[in-house]
Amino acid sequence: MLSYTDFFSRKVAKGKAFFDRQDQRRKLTIDLSSSSSVWLAGERRVGKTSAAIHVCSELEANPSQYGINHFAWSECDISSCATIEATKRQILHTIADAAGKITGKSKKAIELLKSAFARFDPELSVGGSDIAKLTLKLKSISAEDSLQDAIIALDGLAKKQNSKAVIIIDEFQTLAEIEQATGERIEWDIRAGLQHSDNVCMVFAGSKKRMMSEVFLNKSRGLYGMCRRINIFELPKDDCIAHLTLASKQCGYTFDAKALEMIVDITLGHPRDFSHLSLQVFEDSTFDNVKPKHISTDTVINAWGTYIKDVVIDEVSSLLKEKLNNNKRAEISTIQAIAHTRPRTNKIRTAKFAMLVGLSTTPIVGAIKNLEEQGLIRIVDERWSLCEPSYEESLKQISKYHFDPALIEAVKILSEQ
Ligand SMILES: Nc1ncnc2c1ncn2[C@@H]1O[C@H](COP(=O)(O)OP(=O)(O)OP(=O)(O)O)[C@@H](O)[C@H]1O
Ligand SMILES: [Mg+2]
Repeated sequence: MLSYTDFFSRKVAKGKAFFDRQDQRRKLTIDLSSSSSVWLAGERRVGKTSAAIHVCSELEANPSQYGINHFAWSECDISSCATIEATKRQILHTIADAAGKITGKSKKAIELLKSAFARFDPELSVGGSDIAKLTLKLKSISAEDSLQDAIIALDGLAKKQNSKAVIIIDEFQTLAEIEQATGERIEWDIRAGLQHSDNVCMVFAGSKKRMMSEVFLNKSRGLYGMCRRINIFELPKDDCIAHLTLASKQCGYTFDAKALEMIVDITLGHPRDFSHLSLQVFEDSTFDNVKPKHISTDTVINAWGTYIKDVVIDEVSSLLKEKLNNNKRAEISTIQAIAHTRPRTNKIRTAKFAMLVGLSTTPIVGAIKNLEEQGLIRIVDERWSLCEPSYEESLKQISKYHFDPALIEAVKILSEQ
């Protein structure tokens, strides 16, 4: 019998834990197998990395099914890179990793690898796993053309080995965030490499909407027009219920008629909340003293409370603390007010909403713009709401006593009109 942990993951969704996304999978598979680069757009925790990794793993496992001989990929997240140099090194390391995967252990291929990357002062070791480990030492990191050359070297290697290679770069907007001008030069550097590659492409993911759009839609930027955009949204309700039903049956759990639906209603199919709550529900029902391995609506309600208390409250608290340290008080009270009221977009500039937040309209509007850019809030049915249901619940709990209840009611009523 399978374990419920096979069906849900708190990290990147792999294997059985990954479901749905047919449309995105098809587009990604077509593009990556033909070496066309892709921009994966979506809010925080919506499943961008999971989608990219899932498709790459499928291509790697069954290359011939997609008309290719061999497929290698490697992935990096540059959000923790503090300098442009660190980012460059991280991306180079990822390119080297993909090169190692193309090469395998074949002596001839390793020689090829060495010569393709000769200018990077390569250091090579063949480890216990089946790949040659390549480390690129960049003597002069300021060299303008370094990423371009590395991409072209990888392309040359891929061509000789009759392979395709994909590099996934997560949180790509970090480059422009670190330093706009230098970051943009790297984008041109990458463009120059990709433009001349027939066997290498990249997947760029990132949750900061405006910055990512600037990278790919601004005509004066290097990567303009280079990538197809693929959007990732919440998981559809029916598919979530079908997945929960499948998991329950295959793992030997029973459930109340409404319980599974409740998991989806609470999380609105937001992948992160959905997978975390599902895991908590299965875990709690496994250890239920009265009726083990049965999922009731009470199990779901209690599991939601546990998930909020054990995981999300801390996360949201530290997010608020960070905002406080950066003097973003307007963002703090605006996001809390939104959590309590889900105000209609055309009521943001009203005196009542301003009174609730405790600020005048101008800082509120500025805060909303920033919160949206950070992927924390968005418009649903003409109302501002939190992107993640668990964040809304946590913010409500954290700021339970911060607002005048009469004003909360007044804004809610105003939004109904
Ligand atoms: N297709 C899917 N099926 C099931 N669960 C998924 C799917 N996609 C994502 N998830 C779940 O959602 C959560 C977030 O996934 P992931 O880290 O891929 O998102 P992301 O958009 O890359 O996040 P971030 O903004 O932090 O980079 C994880 O718990 C993952 O298991
Ligand atoms: Mg990610």
